[in-house]
Amino acid sequence: MAKLKTTFFCQSCGNQYAKWQGQCTACKEWNTIVEEVIQTPEKSDWKSPTSAVKKAAVPLKIKDIDASNEIRLNTFDGEFNRVLGGGIVPGSLTLLGGEPGIGKSTLLLQISLKLPYKTLYVSGEESQKQIKMRAERINPSTNNCYILTETKTQNIFKQIEALEPDIVIIDSIQTLHSDYIESSSGSISQIKECTAELIKFAKETATPVVLIGHITKDGNIAGPKILEHMVDTVLQFEGDRNHVFRILRAHKNRFGSTNELGIYEMQGSGLREVSNPSEILISKKDEELSGNAIAATLEGMRPLMIEVQALVSTAVYGTPQRSATGFNAKRLNMLLAVLEKRAGFRLGAKDVFLNITGGINVDDPAIDLAVVASILSSNEDVALQKDVCFAAEVGLSGEIRPVQRVEQRILEAEKLGFSTIYVSKYNKIALKTTSINIQLISKIEDLVGVLV
Ligand code: TYD
Ligand code: MG
Repeated sequence: MAKLKTTFFCQSCGNQYAKWQGQCTACKEWNTIVEEVIQTPEKSDWKSPTSAVKKAAVPLKIKDIDASNEIRLNTFDGEFNRVLGGGIVPGSLTLLGGEPGIGKSTLLLQISLKLPYKTLYVSGEESQKQIKMRAERINPSTNNCYILTETKTQNIFKQIEALEPDIVIIDSIQTLHSDYIESSSGSISQIKECTAELIKFAKETATPVVLIGHITKDGNIAGPKILEHMVDTVLQFEGDRNHVFRILRAHKNRFGSTNELGIYEMQGSGLREVSNPSEILISKKDEELSGNAIAATLEGMRPLMIEVQALVSTAVYGTPQRSATGFNAKRLNMLLAVLEKRAGFRLGAKDVFLNITGGINVDDPAIDLAVVASILSSNEDVALQKDVCFAAEVGLSGEIRPVQRVEQRILEAEKLGFSTIYVSKYNKIALKTTSINIQLISKIEDLVGVLV
């Protein structure tokens, strides 16, 4: 028997080594390097050996290549289609990553149940019964979706050859196991091999494959970085598990933009598409409360009105507390320093708590002005008018800086019935026909003058 070929992989970042060492030189993690068998003497392939008839590729002039057949498969899920750039491309590999329990299996099962095509949902994590129970909660009337509980890729391909599905979903790539590789499921070389077999299958049969991938504690997809390079599209499903909103975004997309964003709401009967998120994210209160301000932000390409809540109170303990949920705490400290230095507010001895409602994490700098307004409002205990919103960045010298695509934000605010929006004087606004009052301000003192 031929000698088994082994090599050493870092289980954290996937770097490859010729021999064992204690620390990975690439990611600096200790004790993560493990020996794995990389190949047995046989040649790996997704098909059974008899059916493999290989055609060698020939170069073609780019004008002779037929791209017109790039039809996309409609997934019948508006948000999923949008993030993918209009549907799934035949023969593509899509990887969906996200924290455990965020709803990856629910999302893909739900899509499988809705599809009118023959869909094969392969699960290595749950039993057929468990999936059936879940499916009944989501959509009990379906007849095109097949469930297979299997982890060996060779068996999966055998079933695929018999069933000839139009789309294959794998839950999850970390549970798959290929006989061509001897190391255990979830190891770097297994993940690489199983993905390579799936890619070969997808490209040769033009069947789209969607993989679920687990993520590690620092938010990366578990397994080698190379996995993200191998697939065509990497989607990330994120959100706060204690809140109902989930955001789907593309980190990489060979067939579309990565700026699109899908929003879902987790309900008792699966995930519901949220096509108008701004309306839900703003709490509709009758009375005006101090400390609340609305920001016109952008998430990817979509305008999103978000409510910012601040609570400023006299510090009970010696050291004042500053805490921010959904907003960068360092940025909060910076804005407080700007308010203290440029607008003369004594916030140094106050506790400041900031919360972005809906469990959404915002990193759009245009939220700054709303943060400042909510802090001022809470500090002075003066409520802002309900129909006022903000979209501008605040600089270190207290200047109000312009933000990108301000027109889109103004139009969204107008659509939702806001009467006034505060933006930077330096934003070039070419809008003519708006019924909303656009207030242009240039420094933080202008805002203080208006509000307090
Ligand atoms: P799941 O899809 O199993 O997460 P993942 O595959 O990402 O690990 O989602 C599990 C969570 O979703 C679980 O906490 C329960 C919740 N859920 C609902 O709230 N409603 C539903 O209809 C379903 C199916 C799940
Ligand atoms: Mg799952």
